[in-house]
Amino acid sequence: MKTLVTYMTQTGNTKKIAEAIYGEIAGEKDIKDIKDISNFEGYNLVFVGFPIIQFDIPENVSKFVKENVAGKNIAFFMTHATPEGAEPIQSWTGSTKDIAASGNYLGTFECQGELAQPIIDMLMKSDDPNMKAFGEMGPSTKGQPDASRVQKAKEFAKGIQAKVK
Ligand SMILES: Cc1cc2nc3c(=O)[nH]c(=O)nc-3n(C[C@H](O)[C@H](O)[C@H](O)COP(=O)(O)O)c2cc1C
Repeated sequence: MKTLVTYMTQTGNTKKIAEAIYGEIAGEKDIKDIKDISNFEGYNLVFVGFPIIQFDIPENVSKFVKENVAGKNIAFFMTHATPEGAEPIQSWTGSTKDIAASGNYLGTFECQGELAQPIIDMLMKSDDPNMKAFGEMGPSTKGQPDASRVQKAKEFAKGIQAKVK
């Protein structure tokens, strides 16, 4: 049993969750930036993490998963600035199921991640009221993912491992 935790991150939030998940994995394991892997070969279980960018799973992540997921046990973790429980999150979780369709989909963890200040500043300057509203919400994301989210990610990792044993 060998597990890979791989992730994309721009400001460190998703990496924080990746490290929490990695810490809970029993047995042989690797943690790698998705930029540094070329496939999922040699792993029985793969955790793939990413931030939501412009209302979707980043294209490089969904493409990589679709091309490599066949026959693999796979779970996802994502961070987003959108408040937890908001409507779009369900659709993003649904998208993870879709991109894993040729593999064995095990679940998706999601939590809020801090919106970086330069992005808040950029959004606040936008003429688009939707973008501006998103920027206004930015300060409420400060400090996320916090210790309680990190703990939930650890519990998620344990639950996923129990499914493949
Ligand atoms: C360019 C950009 C676009 C983003 N678009 C969204 C979005 O559409 N919805 C959302 O909830 N969060 C959005 N975010 C916020 C990130 O998903 C969130 O801050 C995430 O935790 C960043 O993870 P990272 O630190 O691992 O890069 C965006 C962030 C950036 C930088």
